[in-house]
Amino acid sequence: MSLGIRSRIAFGSILIILLTVLVMEALIINIVRVNYYNNLEAGLYNQLKVACEMYSRYFSDASLEENVMNNVDTFWRQTSAQVQIIDTDGRVLMDSIGYMPDDGVRMPDVEKALETGRGAWTGKVPYDSYGVMAVSAVLTADGKTVGVLRFISSLRGVDEDVRSVSKIFIIIGAVVAVMSMLLSFLLSNTIVNPLRRVTDAAARMAAGDFRARSSKTYNDEIGRLSDTLNYLAEEIEKRDRMKNEFISSISHELRTPLTSIKGWAVTLKEVRDEDRELHETGLDIIENECDRLTAMVEELLDFSRLVTGKLTIREESVQLEEFVDTVGRQLAPRAARDGLHFSVEVEGELPEIVSDGNRLKQVIINVLDNAFRFTPAGGSVLFKTVVSGGEVIFTVSDTGCGIPADELPYIKDKFFKGKNSSLGSGLGLSICDEIVRMMGGSLNIYSREGKGTKVVIRIPCVMEGGAA
Ligand SMILES: Nc1ncnc2c1ncn2[C@@H]1O[C@H](COP(=O)(O)OP(=O)(O)OP(=O)(O)O)[C@@H](O)[C@H]1O
Ligand SMILES: [Mg+2]
Repeated sequence: MSLGIRSRIAFGSILIILLTVLVMEALIINIVRVNYYNNLEAGLYNQLKVACEMYSRYFSDASLEENVMNNVDTFWRQTSAQVQIIDTDGRVLMDSIGYMPDDGVRMPDVEKALETGRGAWTGKVPYDSYGVMAVSAVLTADGKTVGVLRFISSLRGVDEDVRSVSKIFIIIGAVVAVMSMLLSFLLSNTIVNPLRRVTDAAARMAAGDFRARSSKTYNDEIGRLSDTLNYLAEEIEKRDRMKNEFISSISHELRTPLTSIKGWAVTLKEVRDEDRELHETGLDIIENECDRLTAMVEELLDFSRLVTGKLTIREESVQLEEFVDTVGRQLAPRAARDGLHFSVEVEGELPEIVSDGNRLKQVIINVLDNAFRFTPAGGSVLFKTVVSGGEVIFTVSDTGCGIPADELPYIKDKFFKGKNSSLGSGLGLSICDEIVRMMGGSLNIYSREGKGTKVVIRIPCVMEGGAA
């Protein structure tokens, strides 16, 4: 994988760099060449102009042929170029190096000169491997064109100059290309190496080592990925810990009633028949402990249904008035036993709604159970019901120990047990929350440590007959 990113970056940048460098080089070299050629042409033309002016000033009284015959070649000696004199038909009358093309093929520059007075041409000639530049201008006598004077210069010197300048540019281009490639390689390393580290850490976590942490190299996107991965591992560790605590606490809680049942069974076996009172007490305790076990197993079953998504909500008619009354009467003895002031309050008329009565009862009893458990004797618990704004609002408030602010956000998590809680599996509120959510309602907990807790459950109120 690391090779992938690195080679992708490398190939991409090398392609761009090479293309850019090549295009720039071609452009620069071409500009230099054109410049050199223009200079050469300008130089040749200046010499040519001087020669032509001299001709029309001093030699125009004789014909061109006569001038070629006579000793007038002195003034074309002032150039180092090859010199040709051509008549108006394009025939070469004289060539300073003696090259005389036999057929009268007119050169483009001569043609141009005859038309416009001046012409230039670069091209190949048989006697110079470098190619030549030819510049032509008309010779005039008394304002009439009598022939063409042509200076021809080898391109050897200019081409060599262009070549050495190009060499410098090519070297600079190569240096730039190599440096950019190196830079792109270093850059890709700053991506690939941290990524490799994150991947290594993820692999260790995948192998089950959640204590492994990914180290952060830069505070960039990959750094954030690394942070997220560490956070993930922490969360998994936390959940793992909670699950383990859950297993140990649930085993402990299953054992307590079993011990008590076993103890009473042994006692009752030995007790004489006449001791009715002891009999009754023992059997009562065994019955209660069995209820506790059943409730606990029921809770576990609900939890596994919740986890597998099989928790269901039925729709039936619930007489709210009666519902609140039943719950109140069911829990009053428990409150009395715990020495708590338990009051049930109803505001206004309570209608008949469509809901799952059993699940609703389970939620309220669970929340009330918490309130009882976490309120010391002498405290009070209030269960209040009101229907308002299309919702049934159940409020359970207690004057108990409250929930520390740092625990409050986790209170509804699976397996979460506060530091105040010794008994219990820590599943109660998570199941309640899920049930309320499935009913389309909400369960909110407000608490201040040492002052008490208030749980507000809101359920959308679907009236019998479909109206909200
Ligand atoms: N009324 C309350 N007052 C103070 N703390 C509470 C109250 N209700 C809940 N808590 C805190 O929230 C935690 C989670 O509650 P929850 O009902 O989910 O679990 P539990 O009561 O410990 O176990 P279970 O209900 O499964 O027997 C409790 O352990 C307790 O610390
Ligand atoms: Mg509970």
